[in-house]
Amino acid sequence: MAIDWPALRAAARAAAEGAYAPYSRLRVGAAGQVHGEGEAGGGRIVVGCNVENASYGLTLCAECGLVSALHASGGGTLAGVCVVAADGAPLVPCGRCRQLLLEAGGPGLLLDSGDGPLELGSLLPAAFGPADLASRRDAGA
Ligand code: THU
Repeated sequence: MAIDWPALRAAARAAAEGAYAPYSRLRVGAAGQVHGEGEAGGGRIVVGCNVENASYGLTLCAECGLVSALHASGGGTLAGVCVVAADGAPLVPCGRCRQLLLEAGGPGLLLDSGDGPLELGSLLPAAFGPADLASRRDAGA
């Protein structure tokens, strides 16, 4: 499926405008395109922005909002994601958000970067994932 990178960048930038970031002043927007163009809900774009809190550790990254929006709007698997600051410059997701995106898109999920799309698997090698959990649970370990 073709990923509409210009649309993702525009959606991420617009989402960043809504960020609540009074402490870091780094407003972040994330936009993702869902797999399955032509299928119900496929190809749609979901967005999120970062939301900070006076209790700093409770801060929600933009990618958290994006993944919540994905599930709240019908679910599916992410094909491509773009994360930007309010100036429109791409950001690579933090470590926690790489793990979050892995579950929503798998290692083949493409991330926008200044140098073209990057596979999430290359940014999170040898990742722990749902299969590890299932195999250990089934083994009673
Ligand atoms: N932030 C994100 O929204 N996503 C990331 O992947 C990295 C960091 C936010 C969290 C916090 O509000 C601000 O950027 C500074 O860390």
